[in-house]
Amino acid sequence: MTSTELLADTETLPSAPGAEWWRTAVIYQIYPRSFADTNGDGIGDLPGVTAHLDDLRELGVDAIWLSPFQRSPQKDAGYDVADYCDVDPLFGTLADFDAMLAGAHERGIRLIVDLVPNHSSDQHVWFQEALAAAPGSPARARYMFRDGEGAHGELPPNNWESVFGGPAWTRVTESDGTPGQWYLHLFDSSQPDFDWSNPEVRAEFRRVLRFWLDRGVDGFRVDVAHGLIKAEGLPDYTPDPAGGSMGGNEASVPYWAQPGVHEVYRDWHALLAEYDGDRALCAEAWLPTVEKTALWVRPDEMHQAFNFAYLETAWDASALRDIVAESLRAYPAVGAPSTWVLSNHDVVRHASRLALTAENPQGAGIGPLSPGQPIPTLGLRRARAATTVMLALPGSAYLYQGEELGLPEVIDLPDGARQDPTWFRTHGERYGRDGCRVPIPWYSAAPAYGFSPTGASWLPQPSEWAGLARDAQVGDPLSTLTLYRGLLAERRTHRLGAGALEWLGGYGDDVLAFRNGRVTVIANLGAAPVALPEGRMVAASEPVDGRMLPTDTAVWIETE
Ligand code: NOJ
Ligand code: CA
Repeated sequence: MTSTELLADTETLPSAPGAEWWRTAVIYQIYPRSFADTNGDGIGDLPGVTAHLDDLRELGVDAIWLSPFQRSPQKDAGYDVADYCDVDPLFGTLADFDAMLAGAHERGIRLIVDLVPNHSSDQHVWFQEALAAAPGSPARARYMFRDGEGAHGELPPNNWESVFGGPAWTRVTESDGTPGQWYLHLFDSSQPDFDWSNPEVRAEFRRVLRFWLDRGVDGFRVDVAHGLIKAEGLPDYTPDPAGGSMGGNEASVPYWAQPGVHEVYRDWHALLAEYDGDRALCAEAWLPTVEKTALWVRPDEMHQAFNFAYLETAWDASALRDIVAESLRAYPAVGAPSTWVLSNHDVVRHASRLALTAENPQGAGIGPLSPGQPIPTLGLRRARAATTVMLALPGSAYLYQGEELGLPEVIDLPDGARQDPTWFRTHGERYGRDGCRVPIPWYSAAPAYGFSPTGASWLPQPSEWAGLARDAQVGDPLSTLTLYRGLLAERRTHRLGAGALEWLGGYGDDVLAFRNGRVTVIANLGAAPVALPEGRMVAASEPVDGRMLPTDTAVWIETE
């Protein structure tokens, strides 16, 4: 294909008001360290992304969300940024970034990048300045430094716990060698929280946004978008252990969802609007309900928010019906599209999660000693059906690299290989998120299954992954890759992202049945087979004999 043909394709992407690309897009998350390694050091890099852009085009995605690639000591896989306006040498250079972005745009693929505004790395020049400066100085005021409690300031300023386990405060040693103030880190101690009430912090992030917008990115996925502002006085708070690590179920948490955070996004919305081409902001905000999450996507705030309430819904037809209906009420009510997501780099992959038999709060992960081990065949079958449902829903959908290959969570990683700070900070009590971050397989017969030329891989890949490698799945009508490609092509043909959902009656409680335009979707989550309506079957999560739909299977049927 010539580049002129490729460019023509870009121009056909919708960009009229109300039909902006992000309202309907399928956005593929690349976790760069685990995608493709070109220099053989065992860590994926930006040239690796560029090398596989044709594969993503063939898959049929509209956009990429690229997880952090900025300069970072990698204490939290890049979510600890030391320089927001440079590429980490581990991943390449700014020139590699520009080449990747140009290559994506030539193929009609948009690119949104991760932005991490809640905290920086402790290696950020500002934090280093803060450590060297005195208490009460302007350098300290960019972060959340406080005096300790107790007669000698030996106790932390409050009882907050880090999302990754352990205390959320670390005490520093002042330049005269005496024990000094404490700084807040909602995550690892290497990730100090910024003070967003400080205008200097706000100005700096405007500069960072412009830096990437000027380079041509189509938007940002905003990390911990519910966390920037902390409640006045930093009151004590003890989370509910059942709440999952990124956001409690409780109505009010002094470090999540404080009202002042919305001002920040109104400001960013206006800044993005100065640029052409429908640049977008997507909130990573873990909130207990879709109604609450919809506050992040009011008309002058962000454009999208991840629908984590949907991701967290069990494999249960009535629970799914409720969350889909709620989502389609809550987001359009504020003029935003609903988004849909089943997997990302922070959760147990849905090919395993949907067959877990014990509670597994987000962030806990699963390892060899966890209760409720999933049955792999059941998990994959449900995952294929779940994706078949998700990609028929109106709105935008996020995919996580490797789900198109049906990759399961890697459960039996050796303890010594684990790298998630959660694992270290909880002394192994929580396995954390490494199991969904294992480098993905491209070629079954190549070293590291084609992930890297040398066979190096920062986390070990299971031997069963030879059979799941992309090349083993291309052309196999039953493979998960073929299923995803088919779903994405039909979704585009039938414009399902821009459609509307109509529930269909006459089916049992265990069945999800709805129409989106001419496509009827039936998913059987119960044990008994379900009779299918007339029409041409355009997609099926499993082979279907005759007109009876077996358990844990979903189909798309085209009707007049
Ligand atoms: C959410 C990111 O998705 C996660 O990977 C990271 O550890 C935390 N935010 C902290 O930045
Ligand atoms: Ca590399």
